[in-house]
Amino acid sequence: MAPDLPQYTVPSLTPKEGAQVAAILQTRLDSLNDLALTLKHIHWNVVGPHFIAVHEMLDPQVDAVRLMVDAIAERIATLGGAPIGTPGALVKNRTWDDYSLGRASTAEHLGALDKVYVGVITAHRQAATDTEELDDVTNDLLVGHLHELELFHWFVRAHLESAGGALSTAGSQTEKSAARAAKAS
Ligand SMILES: [Fe+2]
Repeated sequence: MAPDLPQYTVPSLTPKEGAQVAAILQTRLDSLNDLALTLKHIHWNVVGPHFIAVHEMLDPQVDAVRLMVDAIAERIATLGGAPIGTPGALVKNRTWDDYSLGRASTAEHLGALDKVYVGVITAHRQAATDTEELDDVTNDLLVGHLHELELFHWFVRAHLESAGGALSTAGSQTEKSAARAAKAS
């Protein structure tokens, strides 16, 4: 057996399949650990009108995302893998940049956070699709997370939405341009 394959995995999966699923889950572990830290960073750095509403909206999201992180890590272990939860490994392996705003207004942070959630949810949906055939228990776990992540994304977007239903961040590709668009609206 190759050294990178687990010694055991869940019944009905081969060790190779267990390793494949665990590798997909590791990317989601990094992504959601990053999201939980980013949400706290925004919680601390948001200023201006509607401060308390945004500040207090974010803590339940942090709590929920931390529970998702724990469930993902424990699923990796259940599959016979070793979850990697250290910050150095996260930074080394991630494919995205650090959140780009420091102290900024509620509108700017919400505009940037809209883009953060787009990235996290897009990758989470892809991971759910990629595990659909391999392991429907992992697929179910990820789909369960998406119910909450997409609800939280709507909470953010509802602040950026006009009465006509248009998003102020529509067409913005980066956090900074989304922040500018949200501020200007
Ligand atoms: Fe706090």
